[in-house]
Amino acid sequence: MCGIVGYVGYKDAESVLTVGLHKLEYRGYDSAGIAVLKDGKIHVRKKAGKIHELERYLVEKNLPKSNIGIAHTRWATHGGVNDTNAHPHLSQNGIFAVVHNGIIDNFSHLKGYLEKQNYHFKSDTDTEVIANLLEYHYLNDRNLTKAILKTVNELEGSFALAILFKEDDDLIIGIRKDSPLIVGLGENENLVASDQVAFLQHTKRAIFMDNGEITLVRRRMVEFMNFSGEPVKKTYVFLNHGDDEAEKGPYPHFMLKEIYEQPKVVMTNYKIYTRNEKPVLLRDLNLRKLLLNKTRIIIEAAGTSYHAGLVGKYLIETFANIPVEVDYSSEFSYRRLAADSRTLVIAISQSGETADTIEGLRNAKRYGLDVLAIVNRPESTIARESDYVIYINAGLEIGVASTKAYIGQVQVLTLLAMELGHIKGLIPDEEVIKMIASMKSLPEKIEKILLLNSHIEHIAEKIYTSDNVMFLGRGLNYPTALEGALKIKEVSYIHAIGYPAGEMKHGPLALVDERLPVVIINPKTSAYELTLSSAHEVRARNGRIISVINENDELMKEVSDYIIYIPEVEEFLTPITSIIPLQLLAYHTAVLRGCDPDKPRNLAKSVTVK
Ligand code: AGP
Repeated sequence: MCGIVGYVGYKDAESVLTVGLHKLEYRGYDSAGIAVLKDGKIHVRKKAGKIHELERYLVEKNLPKSNIGIAHTRWATHGGVNDTNAHPHLSQNGIFAVVHNGIIDNFSHLKGYLEKQNYHFKSDTDTEVIANLLEYHYLNDRNLTKAILKTVNELEGSFALAILFKEDDDLIIGIRKDSPLIVGLGENENLVASDQVAFLQHTKRAIFMDNGEITLVRRRMVEFMNFSGEPVKKTYVFLNHGDDEAEKGPYPHFMLKEIYEQPKVVMTNYKIYTRNEKPVLLRDLNLRKLLLNKTRIIIEAAGTSYHAGLVGKYLIETFANIPVEVDYSSEFSYRRLAADSRTLVIAISQSGETADTIEGLRNAKRYGLDVLAIVNRPESTIARESDYVIYINAGLEIGVASTKAYIGQVQVLTLLAMELGHIKGLIPDEEVIKMIASMKSLPEKIEKILLLNSHIEHIAEKIYTSDNVMFLGRGLNYPTALEGALKIKEVSYIHAIGYPAGEMKHGPLALVDERLPVVIINPKTSAYELTLSSAHEVRARNGRIISVINENDELMKEVSDYIIYIPEVEEFLTPITSIIPLQLLAYHTAVLRGCDPDKPRNLAKSVTVK
């Protein structure tokens, strides 16, 4: 979604900010803009479209050289995609320039009020209201702090803001409420951004702002206060992201790079979460005790994380015998919960910033339920607001289509299910040791699957002109079918459906003809025979079958047009091995169709609006 970066220091602000904007590109956006402060005047340039449109415009219409500025990538919510609605927004008298992530819920009320005070609005955005409100309060008694405090307390909704004030060329005001904002601490320079990728090049020392905080960022000093104006003490953390994490390296796209990083993710989690061939995810004794007291689990998540949740349900129910429901966050957060204190809510999210999932966890809290988060980003809102957190250690995921984070989520849920089953006495020691040994060999098996990259590219050549693709899986690999379909939809814009193989005959079978590619995920599992029957049903209707199966599977081979052989693993690990070829299939299909898999149209990396 939208991205913010602000800089005050000694370097050329325009270049720091445009590089920062490029780093934020992956989050999804439809316009971009930049403002710098020079000689008591704020200069703004903004353009609908991609950042290179803005860069072209900056060549035409130079900005004055300056060492302070703010910039933004906008993902439209209020008002269409055009130059005027792009951020930054100047206040009527040019005193403030504002960039904003989030939504102001009471903007029409505030706008109406300001119009009565002779404010005229140029854009259709909620953000311009913030700029004018701040200016209106400031002009009242020329007290900046008072004006900021009045403004933030009148705004309802979610907002991360970076603000330039024309009377101070050593100040960026940053404000956070329900939308992330991070301060990057440099030497004689400081930055503010909605995502640390925007400033990693300059510094790895960061302060994560909490909700309801304001920061005054200067070249040599950063201060914090709360929305009542009381000073807040903050400490910085050192970001241990590798320099190359936000770079594509030799890969043409982040999505491909991240698919190839999956063996590393699995190995990292194996190392962190196992000791002496046993899972040790529940080292925190309070968490262990809490989990043992729970008789029901509700998983809430969105998109790919929801699919990981479905795998978690199968495994937790099988290994630990605890009933699990999986709900879309967007549904879970708005319904009445019939749950008691023996229910645990698990919120799964790569970014930890998905608005629906945050709302879901807050809803759970309103009911007094304990929340365990499974997230990738430690500093995220979901990580901070949950009672317990388990990290998936996937590293920065830049591609909008989640790949390595999914693998991390599924792996962590697998370990959690296994450990719960073990401590409940349902899985004996020797069985757990065997299972962990199988997990240890997983990275090697994934490497083998990655060697199929060109074979999968050839299969993509056979399907990339199709209008529809169907994905079928059963049992543990039903979520794989859903995830395979989501991946191809997101990055190649081909309509795809994922279905439980056994359910297909109850309706979707009517779609099958010689033009429909049907991807059947059927590695050796307890669902094998039944899925084979579904494959026969598709074959009998002349569907073109692409199968994801284990080596030497003659029965599936007979009904398949194209085959992707994956190494055999124990059933509980098949959701990890069988999704990898589907990620590659989606990737190559997208590239063949001329789509950018890293930045699919209309999508954002983390969906921070409800
Ligand atoms: C995944 O490929 C998607 N981009 C999307 O479905 C994503 O998984 C969803 O928005 C949830 O995001 P989160 O995991 O960051 O909460």
